[in-house]
Parts: sequence; C-alpha cells; structure tokens
Amino acid sequence: MRVLIVGAGWVGITMSVLFSSSHKVTLLDIDEQRIEQISVGETPIVEPGITEGLLESVKEGLIRPVLPSDTIGYQDVIVICVGTPESPDGQVDLQYIESAINTILSRIDELCYEYCVVVLKSTVPPGTTRSFLINQVKENQLDDRVGIVFNPEFLREGSALADASNPDRVVIGAIDDQSFNQVRTMYEQVLLNKSTPYLSMSPESAELCKYASNSFLAMKISFSNEIANVAESVPYADIDDVMRGVGADHRITAKFFGSGAGFGGSCFPKDIQGLVRFAEERSIQMPLLRATQQVNSQRPKKLVDMLVKKTGNLHGKKITLLGLAFKPGTNDIRESPTLRLLDLLLELGAKVWIHDPLVTSMDVSKHLRENATISAELEECMRESHGCILVTDWPIYLEIGLENLTRFMSKRVLIDGRRVFATQTTPNDVFYQTVGIQALESGKE
Ligand code: UDX
Repeated sequence: MRVLIVGAGWVGITMSVLFSSSHKVTLLDIDEQRIEQISVGETPIVEPGITEGLLESVKEGLIRPVLPSDTIGYQDVIVICVGTPESPDGQVDLQYIESAINTILSRIDELCYEYCVVVLKSTVPPGTTRSFLINQVKENQLDDRVGIVFNPEFLREGSALADASNPDRVVIGAIDDQSFNQVRTMYEQVLLNKSTPYLSMSPESAELCKYASNSFLAMKISFSNEIANVAESVPYADIDDVMRGVGADHRITAKFFGSGAGFGGSCFPKDIQGLVRFAEERSIQMPLLRATQQVNSQRPKKLVDMLVKKTGNLHGKKITLLGLAFKPGTNDIRESPTLRLLDLLLELGAKVWIHDPLVTSMDVSKHLRENATISAELEECMRESHGCILVTDWPIYLEIGLENLTRFMSKRVLIDGRRVFATQTTPNDVFYQTVGIQALESGKE
C-alpha cells in the first residue's frame, strides 16, 4: 500500500518506521529542519529501534520525507498524526488537525486516485472526526472516494516501536466497512501478532476510548498512590506487597500500580484534562478523574516534605534531584514531576542540582533559573549534597547502588520517589525513605 503520514512527531515517525516494513511511506511535515534531518536518516526522537529503522527505510527509499511544497502522489491511506497540545486556557488546540485536513482536502485530486482512507490518529475530543472531517468530506461530495477512520494510538514513549508493532488491540472507528477493511489490511501486513483483535466501532466511540484508556491507567497510578499514603501509617505494611496482592486478581492486573512521584508525560495529564473539560462542558461532573489529578499533583510536595523532615531548613543547601525525563528511556520532560519538585525546592531556597543521563541543559533551558543546574555527571550532582530525591527510575541508579550513589553527599539522605531501593538493605549511615512504607526509626540514619 501507499501510506502518507502527516506529522513527523513521536507517533508519526514511529508509524512510518512500522509501516515501511510492508508499505511505501511518505512522511509529510511543515518543519523544514525536521524533514531535512529525517532525509539524512537522523531521528529527532530518542526511541529504541527508531534510529536504525528510520535510517534504513529512508536509505532504501521506503520512507520518503517531504514538505508541503513537494509533489506527493496517490495514496491508499493518509494518516494524520499531528499534535493536539493543550492551549493555555486548558482547551485542546485543534489548529494542526484543521490545517492538516485542509491540506489533504485541497490536494485530494493529487492524493486520491479512485479511493483512499483518511485516518485521524491524533488524540481528539469525541466528535472531532465527524465535525472536522466527515462533514467536510460530505460537503465537498467526496464521500464515494474518501473513507474515514478514527484510529487511536496506544504506544508508550521509550517502547514506541515495540508497542506499535505488537498492540493489545487495534481500535478502528470507521464510517463504513470499506474504510474499516482498508485500515485493517494496512495493519495486518505489518503487525507481528497475527491474532491481534481489530475492534470496530463508531469514530466517536474510538475517540472516547482513547481518552478513557489513558484516564483509567492514570487513575490506577493515583489509586496506588492513595493506598500508599495509608500504608505509610500502618506499621509493617508495604505498598508493593499490597498492590501485588490486588493486581494478582486477573480482573485487575498489577500493571500501572507503581507508586511514588506520580505520572507525567505528554499524554496522561493532557488527556485527563481533555476528558474532564469535555464532560464538564456538558455539565457532567468527573469526580474520579478530578481526584486522580488532585492525588497526582500532591506527590511532589509529599516527597519534598519527606526530605525537609530529615534535612531541616533547605535554605542555601545543595539538594539533588535524580532524573528529569518524565520516565526512563526518553529525553522528554513534558509534565515531568521533577519540574514541580524543582519549583518547590527553589521556593524553599535550595540550590538544586538535577542529574539526568539523557536530558541536556538545552532541552530544559526555559526551566533553568538561578540556583538550578542540570548535569549528566552524577558525581558532580551528588558531591556535597545535603539531600537527594530520586524521581526518574533510570537503571543507572540501581546499578550504582545506594552506597556508591550517596557516597559523596555531605548528608546521606535519599528520598526514593520510585521505590528503586525499597527491597535493599540500607547502609548504616544513609537515611533512606521511600513511599508506601512507614518511615524507619533513627537506626537507619
Ligand atoms: C501513555 C500510555 O501508556 C500510552 O498507552 C499512551 O498512548 C500514551 O500515554 P507514556 O506517556 O509514553 O504512555 O508513558 P507511560 O509509560 O504510560 O507512563 C506515564 C507516566 O506514568 C510516567 O510518568 C510514569 O513514570 C508514570 N507511571 C507509570 C507511574 O507513576 N506508575 C506506573 O505504575 C506506571
């Protein structure tokens, strides 16, 4: 098949690499620098398998990066993967969707020979596919030539290609059978698991399914964090054991019960907010999701309180934050809990050093202020530090171990926001505290 991907972001690049294993892919973006970069096989995103996959496919002509000024030619499927950021007033900003749809429809004679399907993959409020795409296609009397599908993406950053190649399900919100079958065929040729379920539903159900999936996962995390607060007040209780027991019920599953610093990233916070807003505009209250947000927003403050309890006044003291990426395996800092922790610590007068093996000061320049430094040199960040909070569970911290990690600190206080060392023996002169278990008495200091 000939597949046009519109938008060379995280999802667009990943889908291009995936589809290029069986299809001829054209990757369109308005960002000249990005297209130039991809043309020489460089990837703008850090993802396992993507750098090599992109380089190979571009070299072999299986992915053709183009700008809107280039000729594109006929396609069987056009997949819109542009961003839908949150605008400052909390609304979902659909301007990139609108402009992608306008570009496609204005060039439909160039892009569509007898029949093609336009797939909207970007996360959007329910009803967007109909109001932005289906209605326009009808108005332009293109319905006999253009099929329409809303097809959400469930990939995670850090394992994007693996997730996209092996999804639990493919949700296809199609307007008719022909559109559904064309998109199903496109996937069948590239997916590793031949028994992947293809779920057929309306575009509106598929749009809501994406919001609901992310909201549910985020709710699991907040639920676990709420139970962790209770576990901390119960001697001998441990949140990991509690949730291991809860998750062993096959109706629940133990995934996404990891408690600690809370969730961040480009999806969970934005999608919950998008769904809450969508519902509240219809006078539907979402107390579960509001509480999910509230529990999550309290996590950074909780870790700071744990630290202050041990180190006292932070004014003028060097404090280290371990990890800035919103999770390991990526350099993405969007909605990272570390950024909130940085604000809280600076407000208390601390001198904050942030260590991250991947995020550079360039990625984070707008967040850096006086008394905030980022470095990939772990020893430099830890030396003479009065206390440290582990926020992102980069494997390097576990590999180095608690003893070596805290060795150069002036006061060996480590607050573990990801329970990395929760099951390890604490060296005698290290004060270690994590979430979901009662703080130990002074013997561990
Ligand atoms: C998420 C969804 O998992 C994915 O299906 C969707 O397409 C996009 O949003 P992503 O944001 O890449 O993916 O990361 P994910 O691995 O889900 O983690 C999100 C956040 O939750 C991270 O900050 C992570 O640290 C946190 N998290 C995750 C927890 O705090 N506890 C957990 O148990 C799992």
